[in-house]
Amino acid sequence: MQERIVHLLKKSDSYLSGEEISRQLDISRAAIWKYIQELKKDGYDIVAVPHLGYKIASGPDKLFAHEVQFDLKTKTLGKKIFFYDTVASTMDEAFRLGMEGTPEGTVVCADGQSKGRGRLGRSWLSPKGKGIYLSIVLRPALLPSEAACLTLLCAVALSEAIKNICGLNSLIKWPNDLLINGKKVAGILTELNAETDRVKFVVVGIGVNVNSSRDSLIVDATSLQVEAKRTILRVELTKEILRMTEEWYLLSQRQGFTPIIKRWKEISFTLNKRVRIADPAGFIEGEAVDMDQDGGLLIRKDSGVIVKKMAGDITQVR
Ligand code: BTN
Repeated sequence: MQERIVHLLKKSDSYLSGEEISRQLDISRAAIWKYIQELKKDGYDIVAVPHLGYKIASGPDKLFAHEVQFDLKTKTLGKKIFFYDTVASTMDEAFRLGMEGTPEGTVVCADGQSKGRGRLGRSWLSPKGKGIYLSIVLRPALLPSEAACLTLLCAVALSEAIKNICGLNSLIKWPNDLLINGKKVAGILTELNAETDRVKFVVVGIGVNVNSSRDSLIVDATSLQVEAKRTILRVELTKEILRMTEEWYLLSQRQGFTPIIKRWKEISFTLNKRVRIADPAGFIEGEAVDMDQDGGLLIRKDSGVIVKKMAGDITQVR
């Protein structure tokens, strides 16, 4: 019921009387008062003026399902959202839901994570209230070998969402790090549940450093707040991430991954740079010359031989 009250108050241009809320939701004035107290505990600043009614002065900017879903312009992504105040990792919750058959587009968000994880077994620092930590369940008709392109798709969508909401240009460091001014601001982790020849579902995890202060970040990382020099509304950015991800996802269903790879190349931090990447035989060093149609990075070694890497951790050499 709290969500419905928030919804009504948000839709109203000015104060909404208790009588009107009571009429629209068919609940008593006393019940409204009780729900308003609950909302205040959740961080809503609700002004109550005698004879006028209630108005939301400000919200908590938490990724509550009803906040993200308010005016959300998507068809599938985010139609079902699970919000946790703190969770070990949204990946685990989304994976569990995926196994239970949750519909495509289900999103799990958290205000903080105690065991956030990144690629290659790393941890992902997830301070409460400071970032966006979300996982999306997708059920694409893809072969397991094609799923790497979904990570690229999400990186493109995330970069565009950041541009649209924060006005910041970010570049993608292969395969999935978003950098602003050379520092990492966001990362994407993709986990698969697949049979040999069929993806059953994919969980795409997105972590963004949103409102972390400079001194709380490690030296190679940055946040949107640091770069934009203003607080960023996480709810607004989350909606845009879902919208852009859906837009690129639908495009990939119509046209394949070619348009995504094209856009990825335009905003790549990695291409045409000299890079070094770990390899079973040691390290490969050379120029990152291209991105393959399946998302593999093509590196031209000094010998002229071109090698393709599907995963790994690259360092820019110079
Ligand atoms: C990386 O850069 O290595 C990927 C980081 C992905 C972090 C996100 S935060 C939401 C989701 N839950 C996790 O535990 N990880 C991903």
